[in-house]
Order: sequence, then C-alpha cells, then structure tokens
Amino acid sequence: MIQGFLFDLDGVIVDTAKYHFVAWQRMASALGIEFGHEENEQLKGISRVESLERILTWGQLTLSPEEKMHWMHQKNQWYLECIDQIGGEETLPGVAHFLDKARIQGFKIALGSASKNAVPILERIGLLDAFDAIVDGTVVSASKPNPEVFLEGARLLGLAPEACLVFEDAAAGVEAAQAGGMACIGLGDPQVLGSAHRVIQSFIEIPDPQLLVDSL
Ligand code: BG6
Ligand code: MG
Repeated sequence: MIQGFLFDLDGVIVDTAKYHFVAWQRMASALGIEFGHEENEQLKGISRVESLERILTWGQLTLSPEEKMHWMHQKNQWYLECIDQIGGEETLPGVAHFLDKARIQGFKIALGSASKNAVPILERIGLLDAFDAIVDGTVVSASKPNPEVFLEGARLLGLAPEACLVFEDAAAGVEAAQAGGMACIGLGDPQVLGSAHRVIQSFIEIPDPQLLVDSL
C-alpha cells in the first residue's frame, strides 16, 4: 500500500526545466555545440556534471577539469539569473493543493531531485515546509536513472520502496523509480514517459491523492 510520495522538483513541482534548457543552450552555443529540445530532453533529471559530459560528447569536445568546472559554474550562474525572481507563480498547476491534501490524508512526502538548487527554489516558492525529507544533488552523487535519490528518500521517510509513489517528468527519473522498485506517475509526454504507471499532463487531473493511490 502506498504511504508516501517522492517528488522530483524541476518540471514536477516548479516550472524550472525551461530555465535549465535556456542555460545549457547558452553554454553549448558559447562552446559552438548545437543544442536543441531533443538534446535537452535527454538531460532532464540528469546531474549538472553528467549533463556537461553529455553535451561535450555530443560536440566531440575535450575540456580540462578546470575548464569543466568553469563551464558548470557559468551555466549555474546563467540558471540562477533566470530563477532570481521566481515565486509561487512558477509552481506548477495543482501541485500546492495536492501537497496540502496529501499531508491532511496522512501521506509522507519527500523530494528526490538531482538539483543542488532545490532548497532555495522551494523556499522561494514557499513549499519547503511541505516536505518531510529533502534528498537533492547536495546529498546524492549518482545521477538518475540510478535509484539512489529515491531510495534515500524512502529511507528518510521510514518507508519501504514499494510503499512509495514517485512523480517524474524525465525518462531517466521514471527509470530510476522503477530501478528502485517504486511505482511512478509521469508528468508530460506519454511518448517519453510511456513506461510510467500512468502519465498525466498536470496535477489538476489528480486532485485527490488518496483516490489516485486507490486507482493504481
Ligand atoms: C534536475 C534537472 O532536476 O537537476 C536537470 O532536471 C538539472 O536539468 C539537474 O541539470 C541539476 O540541477 P542543478 O540545479 O544542480 O544544476
Ligand atoms: Mg524533472
């Protein structure tokens, strides 16, 4: 029986996936590497360092460790510029209601994100207190599709993996949930997230967490 929820952040809780895209594209362009939506889709859910490595591989470019550090820092600066002004309006539709209702219904709630910017973002959108546990890029090293981030979330909630339901917008995240033995709801394109238990376009479709769990 599902007793807890594990949420990805970017593209699930908050509409920041578009800003990661903008910042990676700016970096790729500075390095003379082509980067479009197709490439970006493959980076969703992937850590900063792993994303850089993939972009360099696509561009057949070799950089020194110092240069890699420089570009990761630069990309993050550009990303931070984008999210500097964000507030509750960037919270994705229906998410705040779902989190409130889940708490009232007694579900435990954790974040499972690759991002090192997760806590400041949750603070800015006023949702940090909605989580019983936070697992982010500052505490895990393995990038999704490795299940580490979700297994750690389940552990912190005191739940078995099979008692947790994951919400993900990235193919790598759906894979991570499945590798960890958890059911998963995909948010976005069914073509990309087809292996999830169910794919939705928005939390507006699932206003009642208990009804969702009962329907799985
Ligand atoms: C994931 C995003 O949540 O976090 C990726 O889907 C991003 O696009 C990754 O690269 C790492 O984020 P950050 O904020 O640590 O650079
Ligand atoms: Mg995501």
